[in-house]
Amino acid sequence: MGLDVNSIRSEFPILNRKLPNGKKLVYFDNAATSQKPQCVIDAMSRYYEEYNSNAHRANHTLADEATSALENARRTISSYFGTSPEQLIYTSGATEAINLVAFSWARENLSKGDVIVLTEMEHHADIVPWQQLSKDMGVEIRYVPINIENYFLDMAAFEIAVKDASLVCVVHTSNVLGIRNPVEEIIQMSHDSGAKVLIDCAQGAPHEQINFDDSECDFIAISAHKMAGPTGIGCLLVRKDAMEEMGPFMTGGSMIKSVTTKGSTFQEGHAMFETGTPRIAEAIGWGAAVEWLSQYDMEEVHSHIQEIASWTAEKMKNIEGITIYGDPKKSNSSGAVSFLHATIQSQDLALLLDEGGFAVRTGHHCAQPLMDALGVPSTNRISFWIYNTMDEAKSFVEHLEYVVKRFS
Ligand code: ALA
Repeated sequence: MGLDVNSIRSEFPILNRKLPNGKKLVYFDNAATSQKPQCVIDAMSRYYEEYNSNAHRANHTLADEATSALENARRTISSYFGTSPEQLIYTSGATEAINLVAFSWARENLSKGDVIVLTEMEHHADIVPWQQLSKDMGVEIRYVPINIENYFLDMAAFEIAVKDASLVCVVHTSNVLGIRNPVEEIIQMSHDSGAKVLIDCAQGAPHEQINFDDSECDFIAISAHKMAGPTGIGCLLVRKDAMEEMGPFMTGGSMIKSVTTKGSTFQEGHAMFETGTPRIAEAIGWGAAVEWLSQYDMEEVHSHIQEIASWTAEKMKNIEGITIYGDPKKSNSSGAVSFLHATIQSQDLALLLDEGGFAVRTGHHCAQPLMDALGVPSTNRISFWIYNTMDEAKSFVEHLEYVVKRFS
């Protein structure tokens, strides 16, 4: 039947925005953060207007309502990701979720000389926590390279690296290249080698239905704000056996069973990792986002995005001086298209695109090892989502052609 993109767009007030120069906003920075539909904004406002209160602490009506809403959101979100509420730990986002694995699982279960496998296309969020761990504990890090011809992970190198590894941490979909990694194969090969697996799904979850239990993955990190939810919340999905091996991360209120001057005992399960006042408004907003997203078939959403991304990338290839990084034509590529112009600096190009109303991201995209592998300091990146249209893509290509003709 196809997506009714006009109707979807009408739910996002920000898409009507005009920029200070009078240009209509064309939002192509979705891999950085998506826009939010009115129902998410309303759900969060309703909490603040009608039942703002702390959760899991008091016995008054508002506290009960806030607690129920927080836990209902956990049920909605975990069910969307194909798992049970017990397996979902709320975090501030994918970055904190990965740090949680580093602090709570890796520090408890790894020791000097143990091997962690990463890839060259990881986001810094999936590199720096492991480098810090390596500094503190002497674990060895192995980086699987990408094949520079086709931008895919070198799976032959992965096969060698995973031997005798204890943990494998891989990005589901690259935020720079839009490449979707063969995560099923990676999970299988890692488990065959006896390693646990963490998949960073910050970019994958907005483009594909993630089913945690079916994936048999040990840890999955997700951010809400790239999938119509608010900033400030995400989660770590953890398999039961892995959660039982985790120790406390941040300590304080809520995560304890009892505290005396002699010491403390801790809650079990996800409660041990959710310290202090919970992210109540954010969880409610994410729950609303997930309910909103559930009305769509993610394969249809992906095809819509991929069609626009591959069309745009093909047109861009014909513009003199433009190089595309990644393979947007590949059917499982996400909607991210990274590119550079031979003579117009990426920062200048971003400003020239902004003058036309186009919001794009520029820089190293928090993936400097990947930039090194590509041999560039930065790229420009357009990234599409559910509400983008082919007309927007056409106007982008026209504007880019104009900019390149005028300024190169
Ligand atoms: N990691 C996000 C991006 O790629 C912020 O833009």
